[in-house]
Amino acid sequence: MTQFTKRVFSGIQPSGKIHLGNYLGAIQKFVLLQDDESFENIYCVVDMHAITVAQEPKILRERTLEVTAAYLAAGVDPAKSIIFNQSRVAAHAELGWIFNCVARLGWLNRMTQFKDKAGKNSERMSVGLYAYPNLMAADILLYNATHVPVGDDQKQHLELCRDIAQKFNNDYADEIKELGFGEQFFCLTEPLIDFGNKPVRVMNLRDGTKKMSSSAESDMTRINMNDDSDTLAKKLKKAKTDPDALPSEVAGLEGRPEARNLVSIFAALDDSDNQTVLNQFGGQQFREFKTALIDLAVAKIGPIGDEMNRLMKDEAHINQVLKDGAERARVLAEPLVQDVKKIVGFMV
Ligand code: TRP
Repeated sequence: MTQFTKRVFSGIQPSGKIHLGNYLGAIQKFVLLQDDESFENIYCVVDMHAITVAQEPKILRERTLEVTAAYLAAGVDPAKSIIFNQSRVAAHAELGWIFNCVARLGWLNRMTQFKDKAGKNSERMSVGLYAYPNLMAADILLYNATHVPVGDDQKQHLELCRDIAQKFNNDYADEIKELGFGEQFFCLTEPLIDFGNKPVRVMNLRDGTKKMSSSAESDMTRINMNDDSDTLAKKLKKAKTDPDALPSEVAGLEGRPEARNLVSIFAALDDSDNQTVLNQFGGQQFREFKTALIDLAVAKIGPIGDEMNRLMKDEAHINQVLKDGAERARVLAEPLVQDVKKIVGFMV
């Protein structure tokens, strides 16, 4: 087996407000991983993914700055991690095309995220939205990233990424060997889903059966990372609950999605778990619990939001971080794409 350097790659789309789900499910993990010296870390703002659905150009720019500011404010450190926007490194598009020719239609037809997003309108969706998982595989394999921290909704895309790597390694096995790359050219990437704290799926504040999302029409359904304290308090006060008191055992959260969501958010922010939270709040009314939750959210998210807003005032600085990151990413990505071109038989 070929040995690959331990490398982490992950990305967030600049397609909407960056919210608590992005923080607890992704960015917080990036910060933990970056402090593990055995990993190299690459964190991308995936603007090419964002345009798979229509984006207002001015707003796309703003969201790109905002995701970058969120990375920086939360503690992703450009001295330790490569931070850049995807479109600046052309190799993503180049490898993405090659993967369009490796992946099979049948594989993409199984992707549940496309089906969910397209619904009955699949005929009117962009080709990019359909081929999105191939570009995602290119993002990851361009760096031969061995580990990818993502939410569980991305698990299927990670499996596709492994299928693409495997098919490429098999289809071109002779060339890979002849050119001296050993047995495997691409690694089989592992998802890091339960890494760090307990897996948290942060749900919509008004409907606990839906994920918290940047595309939900009402801002009251989510906590944005740069909401000020008053907004945080207002949203959590108005968050949907049910009429019962909090249960004392986690089993009592069954069938109570809104209660479960608020308890999980508390646990994630407090670095504990649902049972510990219920040990403290079981039997209490939501009103009391929400007061404690608001205090905790203001203490944990408030300072990150303030720092984000401060950083956002200096667009030149944020852009410089992205530019420097892109240069470092290119140093890794360009030679790999050159090798891929040789393997598939392009003149280089
Ligand atoms: N598809 C991911 C999402 O929507 C974003 C993404 C694009 C990504 N490329 C990636 C995540 C590569 C991890 C690795 O959340």
